[in-house]
Amino acid sequence: MQPITFPISSLLLLFCFLLVLIRVPTALSVDDPRYSECRTTLTCGSLANIGYPFWGMNRSSYCGLPGFELMCEDDVAKIMMSENMLRVLDINPGQQSLMVAREDYWNGYCPSELIDTAIDFNHFDYGPNLRNLTLFYGCYLPATSTYIFLSNCTINGTLMDVSYSTINFLADPRPGVCRGSVLVPVYETAARDLEVNPMTMGQALRGGFVLQWDVDTDECRRCRDSDGVCGYNQSSNSFICFCKDQPSESTCLPTTGTLYLFFWSLDDFAQLYVVAKLTGSLNISSLKS
Ligand SMILES: *[C@@H]1O[C@H](CO)[C@@H](O)[C@H](O)[C@H]1NC(C)=O
Ligand SMILES: *[C@@H]1O[C@H](CO)[C@@H](O)[C@H](O)[C@H]1NC(C)=O
Ligand SMILES: *[C@@H]1O[C@H](CO)[C@@H](O)[C@H](O)[C@H]1NC(C)=O
Ligand SMILES: *[C@@H]1O[C@H](CO)[C@@H](O)[C@H](O)[C@H]1NC(C)=O
Ligand SMILES: *[C@@H]1O[C@H](CO)[C@@H](O)[C@H](O)[C@H]1NC(C)=O
Ligand SMILES: *[C@@H]1O[C@H](CO)[C@@H](O)[C@H](O)[C@H]1NC(C)=O
Repeated sequence: MQPITFPISSLLLLFCFLLVLIRVPTALSVDDPRYSECRTTLTCGSLANIGYPFWGMNRSSYCGLPGFELMCEDDVAKIMMSENMLRVLDINPGQQSLMVAREDYWNGYCPSELIDTAIDFNHFDYGPNLRNLTLFYGCYLPATSTYIFLSNCTINGTLMDVSYSTINFLADPRPGVCRGSVLVPVYETAARDLEVNPMTMGQALRGGFVLQWDVDTDECRRCRDSDGVCGYNQSSNSFICFCKDQPSESTCLPTTGTLYLFFWSLDDFAQLYVVAKLTGSLNISSLKS
């Protein structure tokens, strides 16, 4: 039998060879497990569809960024920031913001430890329209208009008086006397209510405050647009795009079918150029000659 020959140019032959080389082994393999895992989103209580940069629960740490671990306890999402356990009330990925409240102040203003609110400024910042509420414990403060008194707390078996102020950046009124003071951000509207009515304290604390996160969204969008899933390479501390077949630093290659259609409409030299671009292994100028 005669071998069948095609009128095919050497460049097209080269392209076919490269295409087989690049795509066929991956077409036979199953999806990258990291791609499948990071594609799943988080659900906890009323929060749903939470993806990158958050991780935790069923999403491994490489599916999100450090500092964005969510926990889910009794259908309540929580995030740890330095010493504060924060309840996550809402997440708005479009605006890159989350609404949180201090877990230890959820059921009142008498926590067992007096810790200031501290957020992770490497990744987050306070949102707009907030004011610092300062709670003073065991200060025996004189009754003035600056401090509003609440009912006493019993903390660690010690009864202590509690007062508060909603004036930002207030110094310790009686250094060495107070058992402690705690800063808790509250919404401006809640602060205004507190100025006139201490009964709104519980509401103000449970109302929480908003945090804004600062993450490059362009690299993740580009990755998603190429059908990838955003992730994080913990050895290089950098962004990674998980694709169906293998991870990439930026975007995923189009799938084989798309690639064929794409090449169909190109002439020989353009095809060679694209293949060279995709593989990064060809030197155009040396082939030209
Ligand atoms: C995620 O975890 C929850 C409980 O932690 C479980 O009910 C659920 O089936 C898991 N989902 C996946 C996709 O693994
Ligand atoms: C209460 O006791 C705990 C444990 O001994 C301690 O860590 C905490 O600081 C105490 N709280 C106050 C307000 O003194
Ligand atoms: C509250 O106080 C902290 C610490 O002093 C500060 O970082 C933060 O910006 C203050 N927040 C507001 C809304 O002023
Ligand atoms: C609250 O605590 C202060 C200081 O310990 C004490 O003088 C005051 O009598 C207490 N008030 C009440 C209502 O227990
Ligand atoms: C993560 O980065 C390291 C160091 O740059 C690299 O060797 C490794 O291949 C990357 N991991 C993945 C999954 O790409
Ligand atoms: C490509 O080949 C040409 C000619 O052989 C050479 O001068 C050039 O340095 C090569 N470029 C790269 C990026 O290897």
